[in-house]
Amino acid sequence: MDQENKTRQQIEFLRQQINQHNYAYYVLDQPSIPDREYDQLFLELIKLEELHPECLSDSSPTRRVGSKSDNSFAEVRHAVPMLSLNNVFDNTEAGDFDRRIRELIDVDPVEYIVEPKIDGLAISIVYEQGKLVLGSTRGDGEIGENVTGNVRTIRSVPLELRTDNVPSLLEVRGEVYMTRTGFRKLNERQNKSGGKTYMNPRNAAAGSLRQLDPKATSSRPLEAMLYSVVRCEGEPFPESQFEQIQRLKEWGFKVTSARVAIGIKECMEIRQELLENREKLDYDIDGVVYKVNSLAEQEKIGFVTRAPRWAVAHKFPAQEVTTVLLDIGIQIGRTGAVSPVARLEPVEVAGVTVSNATLHNEDEIRRQDIRVGDTVIIRRAGDVIPEVVSVVMEQRSDNSQEFVFPVECPVCGSPIVRDEDAAVSRCTGSLVCSAQIKRGIWYFGSRTALDIEGLGSGIVEQLVDKSLVENVAGLYSLTESQISELDRMGEKSAKNLLKAIEKSKQATLPKFLIALGIPLVGESTAATLAKRFGSLERVMSASIEELGEIRDVGPIGAKSIFDFFQQERNLSIIHRLLERGVQVQKTAPVDPQVVVDAPLAGKKFVLTGTLSSMPRTEAKIKLEGHGATVVSSVSKNTDYVVLGESPGSKADKARDLGVVILEEAEFTDLLSNADSKEN
Ligand code: IVH
Repeated sequence: MDQENKTRQQIEFLRQQINQHNYAYYVLDQPSIPDREYDQLFLELIKLEELHPECLSDSSPTRRVGSKSDNSFAEVRHAVPMLSLNNVFDNTEAGDFDRRIRELIDVDPVEYIVEPKIDGLAISIVYEQGKLVLGSTRGDGEIGENVTGNVRTIRSVPLELRTDNVPSLLEVRGEVYMTRTGFRKLNERQNKSGGKTYMNPRNAAAGSLRQLDPKATSSRPLEAMLYSVVRCEGEPFPESQFEQIQRLKEWGFKVTSARVAIGIKECMEIRQELLENREKLDYDIDGVVYKVNSLAEQEKIGFVTRAPRWAVAHKFPAQEVTTVLLDIGIQIGRTGAVSPVARLEPVEVAGVTVSNATLHNEDEIRRQDIRVGDTVIIRRAGDVIPEVVSVVMEQRSDNSQEFVFPVECPVCGSPIVRDEDAAVSRCTGSLVCSAQIKRGIWYFGSRTALDIEGLGSGIVEQLVDKSLVENVAGLYSLTESQISELDRMGEKSAKNLLKAIEKSKQATLPKFLIALGIPLVGESTAATLAKRFGSLERVMSASIEELGEIRDVGPIGAKSIFDFFQQERNLSIIHRLLERGVQVQKTAPVDPQVVVDAPLAGKKFVLTGTLSSMPRTEAKIKLEGHGATVVSSVSKNTDYVVLGESPGSKADKARDLGVVILEEAEFTDLLSNADSKEN
């Protein structure tokens, strides 16, 4: 075999391996290789493709993230219209649906499949000769928008079908969505970077799929589950709904969990099971879909205007209901954040009675012009706090008054100010605001922090109001007699609380960091800080630069942590905690330059020339966030040299020493790949 063919084969082999690992990771959720080894393969492929541009292919795993031009957002006329589904809300209506079908096809019982109805956005994807060529949104069902570049970045969508029997043309349909975990992480990240946060996973998925630049979409934790095949040429068309799911799976897609049910009763049983387990899923579903399984039968049954007659969505109890807004309350968080809370006429939503819901912030109240007395739509989904979604304007009374956001803290009377660049208002009373003090003490003992059992908000309230405790350090001087004098506190519970306080003196570093209540430091940041620095002293003395370079912290988080440890008051509380016997365990010392488990851990990079996609400092921060080090001169110990525009002599030196050279596009691919692994 000549050299050229050999290289081609090697590239093909690498692509297959990488695709296989991707499939295991993103579709099966069963990683098959350590991240570092995966990155090695990925880099090797980037390198070979660079040396052999004639082998480049759009469906190479290195080409997931393209440029803006891959997303034209142009109109796409769907070859097969994207229909919607009729809904039923109870078993009687579902029974009627089944009866109509039995009569139409004269079959009894009917074979159905039952699938979860995923709360995301419909998507259509076209493959020609097995290669992804088009991704589009539903639009009005006839005409959607071309979002190919963004669909390509969804790692569970294959760029090339995994099959030897490639259909010449294939069009598949499914749902793009975001997991609840992904949604929370995205919002946390947006918060830290000062970006826009989203109301719920569905909005986050919609916002992410509509980013103009695929690079932006690429860092969003989007997923896709497919459920139907609408065009398949050059290969047999799968003849039942269930077979479609099987084939989709073979082609490499993540699919909905479809089950066959004989008769409507079995459908309802499966629905009940899913309803009971709904909260255990990491994504929102708003019902189940029943579909007649056989395509031949579907054809006989046909359609009504814009929906098939052979399928129906049997919805779950509404997660959105209307009720009356009785009042708008103000809550003060431990860092002074002022949150408006809706006091509602109690109403049952998805099985739970709700009488309070979040109104988010001042801007949101103003944007929606929410007024006391309004009829509002509220929503409760998953473990997300119930929220007011919108106002039913038609039902507003003529004499309702616009809500005026308070300018003074209702608890301590201190002025309320707006954070710069953010929608958050804060009470400036920190030391004198008992609401903040109470929240801080409660948080200190909460489960995610030092887990002091028995230190509920009612107890904290009394401890502060009776001046028994002024701040968290005060907990460690409480006596049994002081505690047992509190309301609803027997001798036994007083003893137990004291024991729990004593036990909390043995603290792990991450839990202690959480307990301090440093703004923007939650569980994951606390864990990263502990890993990176190993001891409380090191965290406290870290420079703002050191902090900013850590993945998961970023510049805003770094400033917050740094500022916290500059404040005399915080230092004095920490000091008193330690004096009173709190011991913070040290974790194993870690090389400060290496963030454990990071995909590029230990790799040495040199950056040369001007990068067009980001300033060099940003590239440095990103690399270091993934565990790599950036050094200034090239030596034989350098792993990679990244070439920007007009690189200097470093490029020549790298070539002389045989160091791997990355073009900018390869470098950004590598970064977004590492990002997506960490999401
Ligand atoms: S079948 C002609 N199956 O629900 C059949 N749709 O209300 C049309 N959806 O636009 C769709 N999960 O975005 C189907 N398992 C599922 C689904 C599902 C979510 C969405 C889809 C569709 C909407 C219709």
